[in-house]
Amino acid sequence: MKKVSVCFVCLGNICRSPTAEAVMRRLVDEAGLSARVLVDSAGTGNWHAGEAPDERAQRAGGQRGYDLAPLRARQIAGADFGRFDLIVAMDDANVSALQAVCPAAERDKIRLLMEFAPGSDARVVADPYFGGDRGFEMVLDQCEAACAGLLAALRTQLAD
Ligand code: 4NP
Repeated sequence: MKKVSVCFVCLGNICRSPTAEAVMRRLVDEAGLSARVLVDSAGTGNWHAGEAPDERAQRAGGQRGYDLAPLRARQIAGADFGRFDLIVAMDDANVSALQAVCPAAERDKIRLLMEFAPGSDARVVADPYFGGDRGFEMVLDQCEAACAGLLAALRTQLAD
């Protein structure tokens, strides 16, 4: 049985990428694919390693039925580039930071999340950390749209 693995990456792994992880996990569960699609997240930085997601991300996610509380931040590690089939970044700074530590042979695995929501005007998922609650709602909207597109792309890969 074919499997596929995805790691979402942002800067701190406390706002955007854990939100994407929770959104994707629910879509994968609803599709009955949890044994075939592995979902994880990480940050390019290590400042928040070991912490639960930002309270604002937990609250906004909770209002849509996502439980972010059990997640814990971690920094992306060299081994992740071999372990995961796709490394899905939120913004251009994440992509640059990933490219700087990714072995050349694995660079094609690094993608932007919003590539999977071609109907959206946004190219990137903006950092909500220094803004208000509206930013966290936007992150959720973007993650819901793009993760649906990502799951569709993964289904094709699983069927190949
Ligand atoms: P994230 O948001 O990358 O979406 O988890 C941030 C979290 C923390 C910081 C910046 C962005 N920070 O500067 O500590």
